[in-house]
Amino acid sequence: MAKLIDGKAISAQIREELSDKIKTMDKKPGLAVVIVGEDQASKVYVRNKHKACEEVGIYSKVFELPEETTQEQLLALIDELNADSAIHGILVQLPLPRHISADAVIERIRPDKDVDAFHAVNVGHIVLGDPLFLPCTPAGCMELLSRSGIDVAGKECVVVGRSNIVGKPMAMLLLHANATVTICHSRTADLAGVTRRADILVSAVGKAGFITADMVKDGAVVIDVGMNRNSEGKLCGDVAFDEVAEKASYITPVPGGVGPMTITMLLRNTITAAENFAAANK
Ligand code: GUN
Repeated sequence: MAKLIDGKAISAQIREELSDKIKTMDKKPGLAVVIVGEDQASKVYVRNKHKACEEVGIYSKVFELPEETTQEQLLALIDELNADSAIHGILVQLPLPRHISADAVIERIRPDKDVDAFHAVNVGHIVLGDPLFLPCTPAGCMELLSRSGIDVAGKECVVVGRSNIVGKPMAMLLLHANATVTICHSRTADLAGVTRRADILVSAVGKAGFITADMVKDGAVVIDVGMNRNSEGKLCGDVAFDEVAEKASYITPVPGGVGPMTITMLLRNTITAAENFAAANK
């Protein structure tokens, strides 16, 4: 039976460390979170980010813009936030309404305020192994592994999903930690054959019950990035938890695994941004 990786507890410990660090800083770090439209899941995420900021001592300003906001209006707000010295990090919650180009918006954020690490400049730094910020969800997964005493170096790691937000940067962080990394996706031939090779399996697919026990090697570490609703409307991950937990050595639950870590890494990035700002303006 697998050991549970408790993302809530690990997250609480890191948030305490971050809170202590903020107390030593001359100026409070500031985060702006921008949400456009009425996506209910996004609203919950934004509320949770705001609450987490307040709890650790980060100044947080939430901008809730109506669905009809134009791309020009949103870009104008980004320009204002880019120039605001009380704001060290800017996050635009995705997805955006269809009439707004997420790429154009992300590219407008100053790379040194891009605490999501989505800007092409930051993605480039991540690939080069010289990151300004670590991408929040993959960095959260890496912290869960390291704080559970799981060494990644030399391991066969398989990432299922190739999104820009999770799959691709996750593979990069594992590679930089000296893992042997395979990325699988919807066109992978013999998916189960590949996932069964994994010492560490990371699933970021977005389908409830997608990873079943026959896809998992005995003793594998299973990290579930999925955030789905099952047929009863209950929050669940990509992994068929009960059957996979029988085979795995470690497993993250949903909720209470990767989720709380993503926000924690956002808090850490905001502090990094504020520290860099202070160093550059001494
Ligand atoms: N939507 C889902 N995940 C994320 C995230 O990590 N950052 C932003 N900005 N939007 C998201």
